[in-house]
Amino acid sequence: MSLFNVYPLNPIAITKAAGSRVWDDKGQEYLDMYGGHAVISIGHTHPHWVKRIEDQLHAMAFYSNSVIMPIQAQLANAINDVSGKKDFQLFLCNSGAEANENALKLASFHTGRKKIISFKKAFHGRTSLAVAATDNASIIAPVNETDNIIFLPFNDIAALKNCFATESNEIAAVIIEGIQGVAGIYKASVPFLQAIRKCCDDAGAIYIADSVQCGYGRTGHFFSHDIAGVNADIYSMAKGMGNGFPIGAILIAPHIQAKFGLLGTTFGGNPLACAAALAVIEVIQKENLIATAVEKGSYLIDALKNTVGVKIVRGRGLMIGFEMETGLEELRKVLLSDYKVFTGEAKPNVIRLLPSLAITMEDINLFLNRLNAAIQQLKQTHS
Ligand SMILES: Cc1ncc(COP(=O)(O)O)c(C=O)c1O
Repeated sequence: MSLFNVYPLNPIAITKAAGSRVWDDKGQEYLDMYGGHAVISIGHTHPHWVKRIEDQLHAMAFYSNSVIMPIQAQLANAINDVSGKKDFQLFLCNSGAEANENALKLASFHTGRKKIISFKKAFHGRTSLAVAATDNASIIAPVNETDNIIFLPFNDIAALKNCFATESNEIAAVIIEGIQGVAGIYKASVPFLQAIRKCCDDAGAIYIADSVQCGYGRTGHFFSHDIAGVNADIYSMAKGMGNGFPIGAILIAPHIQAKFGLLGTTFGGNPLACAAALAVIEVIQKENLIATAVEKGSYLIDALKNTVGVKIVRGRGLMIGFEMETGLEELRKVLLSDYKVFTGEAKPNVIRLLPSLAITMEDINLFLNRLNAAIQQLKQTHS
């Protein structure tokens, strides 16, 4: 039996990880500026995270959502505390797509409406509604096609207002990433997020903040959307939440009411995932990772802007994208093969940096040194 071949793989087998370093099966060390796709929030195999999961494993690995599990309430309180969303309610699931799927479904239940506003280049996951709200025709199966999603241009307030003016009684929700990740690191503007809040309030629609990639402190706020100073009605989260232990969730405003059976999942909220997520929040708070993410990110963004060969830099905190000048398109490959640095990509030519929030300044400087050396090497090859 072989694996279903859907991932274009780097020919590297990673078998060990710690902090912002990973090692392959031959013992070669790599610097991880990709964080396994923004998942590693507090550092690979952080000792507190390992111990919390181990302790929970010995106590109890699983029971179903038919009984009280105190660790779920503990996690809800911890998220209320770290996010500042005091009376919000928590629904736990297993991934980012599932979080968005539940958010969209809940918005539709709550409003009794069907239409969803999403934006050009958005990515919200690969399950049915989440993928329908994703602006990539190549991953939408015929069965996922629907007229219920309206795609509008990103950061275009006039188009947003115009859509609400014509369809306001139909719109259940607006879903938006605070910083578009898969698209190549594009920030939603503060006035645009504020306009979404206002339009949703006026029309009785739900504002869904997809925080799966840009959330969990990565950009200096717990949710990157918070930069606009307005609350969303639902925040979806996943990636950084478990530091690699699969978990997703939606945080739901107090005015949206629960009803038995409205949402549900077998594995969502299992004690092991909750233990992992609690460990992440404890480390974020103890190591002050949200504030330091901004400092480290600003340093990295400034350094990239001053790097010869770098054309454009975008992002905030430790969610950064940059594009190279013509002739340096091979940079990401060279960084991995010759300088042992993992980075992310976005088509057609964006390098994405999504490292652990606990990355050290030494590792950031090491990355910058290797980046400069790789650029020099490429320039010499082409001269
Ligand atoms: C903004 C955003 N939403 C949703 C998802 C889907 O998350 P998952 O892959 O955990 O289903 C992703 C994944 O990259 C994402 O970046």
